[in-house]
Amino acid sequence: MASEAFARWTARTEATLERLLPDPASEPSRLHAAMRHATLGGGKRMRPLLVYAAGVALGTDETLLDAPAAAVELVHAYSLVHDDLPAMDDDDLRRGQPTVHVAFDEATAILAGDALQTLAFAALSASDAPAQLRIDWVGTLAGASGVAGMCGGQALDIDATGRTQALQQLQHMHALKTGALIRAAVRMGALGGGADAGTLARLDVFASALGLAFQVRDDLLDIEASSAQLGKTAGKDVAQAKSTYPALLGMEGARAKLEELATAMRDVLAPLGERGAALVALGELAVKRSH
Ligand code: IPE
Ligand code: IPE
Ligand code: MG
Ligand code: MG
Ligand code: MG
Repeated sequence: MASEAFARWTARTEATLERLLPDPASEPSRLHAAMRHATLGGGKRMRPLLVYAAGVALGTDETLLDAPAAAVELVHAYSLVHDDLPAMDDDDLRRGQPTVHVAFDEATAILAGDALQTLAFAALSASDAPAQLRIDWVGTLAGASGVAGMCGGQALDIDATGRTQALQQLQHMHALKTGALIRAAVRMGALGGGADAGTLARLDVFASALGLAFQVRDDLLDIEASSAQLGKTAGKDVAQAKSTYPALLGMEGARAKLEELATAMRDVLAPLGERGAALVALGELAVKRSH
């Protein structure tokens, strides 16, 4: 059941992204091509799926969710382009393709990231949703992307590279760099579904656990999986002395943390019953994913 919905929501996401992204035949065509390279034809689309799953759990129409689903993926794609830059993680493989600065050049990669980010907010503001909802979406996504979200977390990641930080700091860094955008995805879907404050808070507990699980799994896969399986260079975290869960707690400690988070996600979603089935499945995917 969930897999049918996931295929449909992924197709909606691809179609919306295709519609929003600039024409590769128009100028500046190199920038347009780089934005498309970063965004289309790859990626698990986990954040858009969370937008749809949260909104549909509350009974909203899928079409209303197309804009926030695409917007959060655009911000995510931008974050990956910049994360891969030589000044950051210096990666040459992403989603099975050369990274944007390798396929194009560094200046184009910086600009493509910038333009993907602003495209996300343009898409939200231009959607057919009621004005107050569009404002709430913009505020949610902006907050999750900025200093108290993804960018702040990336700064902490850079600061922590090469040193050991306490578990609480590591968890805070993960909550910002990865968790914030995942929480925003769930919140934007829930806002689209007209969630009350109690429901928003409950879903936020779920999203926080999923966000942390997602990055802990990413850290484990960096050690356990191959580059071919991941579509990105494996083994980078140890090579670059990144601060990660396995580095601090060992593989078993990191796996135990995933188990704990999986239980927390199931418990918090239980009151939603059958309506929460897609969210439950996405929680399981975050914990068990192999790429
Ligand atoms: C990779 O995110 C970066 C992290 C936050 C761990 P994803 O694992 O969602 O990457 P794609 O979108 O599927 O390529
Ligand atoms: C990236 O974390 C989080 C972002 C905000 C992009 P990583 O640096 O671990 O992501 P990967 O492993 O390169 O996808
Ligand atoms: Mg990084
Ligand atoms: Mg990286
Ligand atoms: Mg990683």
